[in-house]
Amino acid sequence: MSVATIKGVPVEIRDLGISFGAAEIVSGIELDVQPGEFVCLLGPSGCGKSTLLSSMAGFVDPSAGEIFCDGEEVRGSNAHAGMVFQSSEALFEWMTVSQNVAYGPRMHGAGKAEQARIAAEYLAMVGLPHAGGKFPSQLSGGMRQRVQIARVLANQPSLVLMDEPFGALDAQTRQVLQIELDKIWRHTGCTVVFVTHDIDEALTLADRVVVMSAGPRARIKSIYEVNAPRPRDRAHPDVIDLYEQLRDDIRAEVVASLRNQGIEEDQL
Ligand SMILES: Nc1ncnc2c1ncn2[C@@H]1O[C@H](COP(=O)(O)OP(=O)(O)OP(=O)(O)O)[C@@H](O)[C@H]1O
Ligand SMILES: [Mg+2]
Repeated sequence: MSVATIKGVPVEIRDLGISFGAAEIVSGIELDVQPGEFVCLLGPSGCGKSTLLSSMAGFVDPSAGEIFCDGEEVRGSNAHAGMVFQSSEALFEWMTVSQNVAYGPRMHGAGKAEQARIAAEYLAMVGLPHAGGKFPSQLSGGMRQRVQIARVLANQPSLVLMDEPFGALDAQTRQVLQIELDKIWRHTGCTVVFVTHDIDEALTLADRVVVMSAGPRARIKSIYEVNAPRPRDRAHPDVIDLYEQLRDDIRAEVVASLRNQGIEEDQL
């Protein structure tokens, strides 16, 4: 891979609150993401993970507190960030795969030859060296997701925000893409914040796993460091131990979340 190394930026979140109307979704969020760190965010459905991620991208403004990215306050937009969504509907269906990947650089004035070079480079990086001439409709779900990742990385973001990017894929494809993402991240040096529901996925990818509490007014409940060597072996004793802790921790929040919605555990 010949992709330029990126300097990951730090993210600092200070006493962050986000409300939609009268509904306070998250509250009192404190988090420091180190430059080049890979952080996974877990928590019950509806607790505010996507909302928190969107606020780091500048798509959602805080109602309280602040977010700093590379020392600058994030509001309205975040020029350092690139966001990968769960579904690959974000692709431009009328453009070829290469045109999709080179879209950002083209908007920033890259010429034709430069666009072709960038598309080839990033498609190779996500394992799709021969797909450039195809249209998104000709690709499988896993291939579309790779294209989306290539398109975001082609902008060389120093902060990559990923919202359940592999959530809609089958388990085998997901595992392959996790291994690829781990390699890409180690190669590029960008900072990653990655939302998932999958504890195994978090333990494959993360330096730290952040667990959010049940909403409303969700907070950061706990943070786990994953020190097992990469690429991660799921049979590593530290990984097994962390899996069990995370499973119990998250289950408690899922039960709390359902109770907050009027559903009791014995009804589950
Ligand atoms: N634009 C919006 N306007 C009003 N309410 C919203 C908006 N976006 C999200 N919400 C509400 O905020 C809460 C958190 O939503 P969010 O999508 O962040 O949860 P999540 O943790 O990502 O859930 P999931 O795991 O299911 O993806 C939900 O109650 C949701 O209904
Ligand atoms: Mg979400």
